[in-house]
Amino acid sequence: MCGIVGYIGPRDATPIILNGLKRLEYRGYDSAGLAIVVEDRIEVRRDAGKLARLEELVRAEPVSGAPGIGHTRWATHGSPSVRNAHPHRGSNGRVVVVHNGIVENFLELRDELRAEGVQFSSDTDTETIVHLVEHHLAIGHDLTEAARRTFGQLQGAHGIVLMSADEPDKIVCARIGNAGGVVLGLGEGENFIASDIPAILDHTRQVVFLESRQMAVVRREGVEITSLDGVPVTMRGNVIAWDAAAAEKGEYRHFMQKEIHEQVRSLTDTLAGRVDLHEGRIRLPELNLTPDQACRIRRILITACGTAAYAGMVGKILIEKIARIPVEVQIGSEFRYSDPIVDENTVVLAISQSGETADTLAAMEEGRRKGAVLWSIVNVVGSQAMRISDGSISMQTGPEIGVASTKAFTAPLVDQYMLAILLADLRGTLDEKTRRALVADLRLIPDLAGRTLEREAEVEKVAWALKDVRDCLYLGRGINMPIAYEGALKLKEISYIHAEGYPAGEMKHGPIALIDENMPVVCLAPKDPWHEKMISQIQQARARGGTVIAVATDGDEVVADQADHVLWVPVTPWMLSPVVTAIPLQMLAYHIAAIRGLDVDQPRNLAKSVTVE
Ligand code: AGP
Repeated sequence: MCGIVGYIGPRDATPIILNGLKRLEYRGYDSAGLAIVVEDRIEVRRDAGKLARLEELVRAEPVSGAPGIGHTRWATHGSPSVRNAHPHRGSNGRVVVVHNGIVENFLELRDELRAEGVQFSSDTDTETIVHLVEHHLAIGHDLTEAARRTFGQLQGAHGIVLMSADEPDKIVCARIGNAGGVVLGLGEGENFIASDIPAILDHTRQVVFLESRQMAVVRREGVEITSLDGVPVTMRGNVIAWDAAAAEKGEYRHFMQKEIHEQVRSLTDTLAGRVDLHEGRIRLPELNLTPDQACRIRRILITACGTAAYAGMVGKILIEKIARIPVEVQIGSEFRYSDPIVDENTVVLAISQSGETADTLAAMEEGRRKGAVLWSIVNVVGSQAMRISDGSISMQTGPEIGVASTKAFTAPLVDQYMLAILLADLRGTLDEKTRRALVADLRLIPDLAGRTLEREAEVEKVAWALKDVRDCLYLGRGINMPIAYEGALKLKEISYIHAEGYPAGEMKHGPIALIDENMPVVCLAPKDPWHEKMISQIQQARARGGTVIAVATDGDEVVADQADHVLWVPVTPWMLSPVVTAIPLQMLAYHIAAIRGLDVDQPRNLAKSVTVE
């Protein structure tokens, strides 16, 4: 979950690293630090708290040189403090390391090192890495070999970058397991290392992703990748299409607000090249799906975490309705422990913005082990989830920086709708008229999202009315039930208001006891097949004195009469309605958190890519 940046080349590494860390701060903000080779020594600056503290420190105590490495931390072992901030130095101060992941056998390794007389100066598991490297250097190995031997001793999943004042011509890095990516950025006479693409986009778009159990020796003139056993690996480069501006806030106060507004664009890009209106067909060539393969599918298991899992719940309804294939949704953290029933006729479909979420990747691996076909819907091109899949749909949303996922929620709703049509078409289970109508509805979506976004000022007014509430209940049914979960998650993660999403029909079986004048109830009541049922649910909430905030379709006077506040959405085909009903709830959560003066993009305790179990 931590952010890592490295630079080797003729330029001063300090601003490059600070700038890169700024782009990665969403990955962790408990502390930040950098290490720079200055002449024949290594200088370290690090501080607890956000990157701004490190920037201040560097202003007060400037440091320049190259190569350099930097880190933003999401604490696992040891409190967020200066002594636990990365980079960690070895005993003689000649070697430094930054690390993302957990050294699962660190207690054992630390005991062994202590027995050799090593003194530890932090509470982190990471510090064992640098002492192990020193140990191997002391017995005569060079940095590359010392690093390789160290990597072989570590249990768990890791992204590791290290360098030595004695071999300043190189930085050594490795990826082991699924602790988040290690991306090498290739420049001219200079090279970069990062845990995520935005950190290096200002400098290069040519990147290479390290696979698990690969290490790289990065020099000014080039990069050498090998397996941890020393077998050379042929590099497979990728060109990143995003530009650096896509990772800037621009005119918006927060990335989250910008990303909410980017949904017209992201939905347009999601459809581009995939919707053939003339033929009334969907094309998803990335899946390499033949009619024969489509017909063999007996079951689809969607696996994902958090927001992505709620997107999967909508997908279940769409795929079952349109393609008539049974679908289950299993959250990533449970999948591998549930002994899922999977065979070669099962598709495991992972949904992930980052493509690096440890629980989702573990679920995919379990699916692979049991012989399933692996598909994914992923935003970050080249991420692990995409690489290990048999077929992958790219979300096409561009970088999502705000920790609260927004545009990477609505894009996979549309992706799954398209997937459902494609599957039905290939299996021959959809008549032409229905297929054409479903495909034609897609073209409405960017405009409908745009019209929903235009109502931000009205949503903001409701946010002012709710800004001081302590709890909030979100209710939905059918295809909009997952939107109740998602709306509640958005509110709780950025505003710290307790919020619960609930299937509206279940309210009378318990949660109704909570409803009084202090409990606002957000009711998803667009014109979908569950509309009538939602109206009676709204009446029940009203009867208990709850303040009702309804998400309703333009012109729906029945709902308007029952609700205290209405968040209006335009008339939308019901199967695509979650795309528009999610948007006011994103805006509502955003404005409540912004009014409360909270750190919307970097909420406490959270990180953008959750790369630990
Ligand atoms: C979203 O707002 C959350 N921060 C979180 O639930 C997220 O969706 C989850 O961690 C999954 O991430 P992924 O899509 O990168 O796999």
